[in-house]
Amino acid sequence: MSREWWKGAVIYQIYPRSFQDSNGDGIGDLRGIINRLDYLEWLGVDALWLSPIFKSPMKDFGYDISDYLDIDPMFGTLDDFKELLQKSHERGMKVIVDQVYNHTSDKHEWFLESEKSRDNPKSDWYIWVDGEKDKLPNNWYAYFGGPAWEWNETRQQYYLHLFVKEQPDLNWRNPEVVKAVMDSIKFWLDMGVDGFRFDVVNMYYKDERLRDDPKVEGRNSPIDYHNYYRVFDNDRPETLLAVEKINDLVSQYNDRVTIGEVGSPMGTPAYFQYSMPGRLNMAFNFEFKEITDYSAKPYRDKIMETEKLFQSVAWPSYVLGNHDSSRFPTKFKNKKNKDKMVQVLATMLLTLRGTPFVYYGEELGMEDVEVPFEKMVDPEGINFWPKAKGRDPERTPMQWDDGYNASFSESEPWLPLSEKYKENNVKNQQNNPDSMLNYYKQVIQLRKNSNAIKFGALELIDIHENILSYRRKYENEEILIILNFSEEQFTTDDLGILDYKDVVLSNYKREKFEGCIASNEVLILKK
Ligand code: NOJ
Repeated sequence: MSREWWKGAVIYQIYPRSFQDSNGDGIGDLRGIINRLDYLEWLGVDALWLSPIFKSPMKDFGYDISDYLDIDPMFGTLDDFKELLQKSHERGMKVIVDQVYNHTSDKHEWFLESEKSRDNPKSDWYIWVDGEKDKLPNNWYAYFGGPAWEWNETRQQYYLHLFVKEQPDLNWRNPEVVKAVMDSIKFWLDMGVDGFRFDVVNMYYKDERLRDDPKVEGRNSPIDYHNYYRVFDNDRPETLLAVEKINDLVSQYNDRVTIGEVGSPMGTPAYFQYSMPGRLNMAFNFEFKEITDYSAKPYRDKIMETEKLFQSVAWPSYVLGNHDSSRFPTKFKNKKNKDKMVQVLATMLLTLRGTPFVYYGEELGMEDVEVPFEKMVDPEGINFWPKAKGRDPERTPMQWDDGYNASFSESEPWLPLSEKYKENNVKNQQNNPDSMLNYYKQVIQLRKNSNAIKFGALELIDIHENILSYRRKYENEEILIILNFSEEQFTTDDLGILDYKDVVLSNYKREKFEGCIASNEVLILKK
């Protein structure tokens, strides 16, 4: 059976600064990742997505790139990257890089040239607008605070930056920019990377007339950009043509994947739009990250919405967390059944129809770490403090064992380690058959061996409003998944369900299914 590998894959996100340090500077690097490949192979993930590792002044920790074609010395060298690629491939794991083409760093040679004058060869590579000092071109706000416009004395013009001012937005309306981006994609394809994650891909184009974003009536958030419908600086229709161009290039190579980060308030319909045939292979579905209640209904609704829209036209994906959002187990911090609740959500992620993304440390049940203001480094946190806590809490070092600095680094890590690392670490959990880590490994293994889970149809089943249940079916294989999102116990006398007698997995180690479903139980059943 020939099928795109990424449909069946579990994709593991590594935030390289926080995974493993090998040279003792307190910051993770490529050699560190190479040294931990055995672990990733043991866990059973199919592909690694690395947050940006390219040259960068690190104003946004790598999402401000100053050279798309080279590795930042902090992370290593191009040779280290090639070795990582080769060693991952030897272990049957793919490698996906993260490219940021909405903006560059202000230290990128393109911008250094562009800012020199109004008539240099790259003068039109960024979005420059005439205006007067102190009179902004329009009402667009930057995501990390303040207006999206920065005044440049030399050019006596404003330039646009949707993130920090050191991240000027590229002008995608200039064909030379598009060509330079395509050349950069080609460089990595030729090197053999297995795919790309495209940062804020829905923001590449902006309204040509730079119209003001409409104000949301009655909303007065202290975070300015929340007060506007971002219809003119985001989600412009031309962006879809850009991703089609990207697809034309990438599909000339075998077996590569394209994944879009579509940060759109439209949610699922926007993810669908970007993953339609001829566009990207997938767009992250971020909807689960927005659900605050631990309850079956909102999850069921989101799954239904995705299934209805995507059908067999586009391939879904699901996400519970990433480097931009609070780690999901944090929500259950003080609950007595925390681990079981985490297992309910993790099992859902890994058994739905769609590619799951697992953020490093999720497999340990890692929670956010409180980072005091003095230790904060994320510009979002610093600029919005105390209105928002920023993204440092979910980016703290991986917890490998109970040794010095959890064996992440010989020096003080760039962000504080969780105080819980002495108990909660890879080594302890590997040695404990009942740990979260071994649970994740078991579900990943189960998924690997089941075409029904990887590729089969999904049918939602009603058992009770607090239970999320679905059937996965592929040829002769049929599996029933039951997830109890409550403290209550249930018994079902539904004969259709009682037909599934064999327990493939239960987080209560149940051996036979006779209709009883315990609180926060996960049941994966076969006939
Ligand atoms: C989205 C990335 O996920 C985030 O970490 C980054 O700060 C912004 N894009 C800007 O590149």
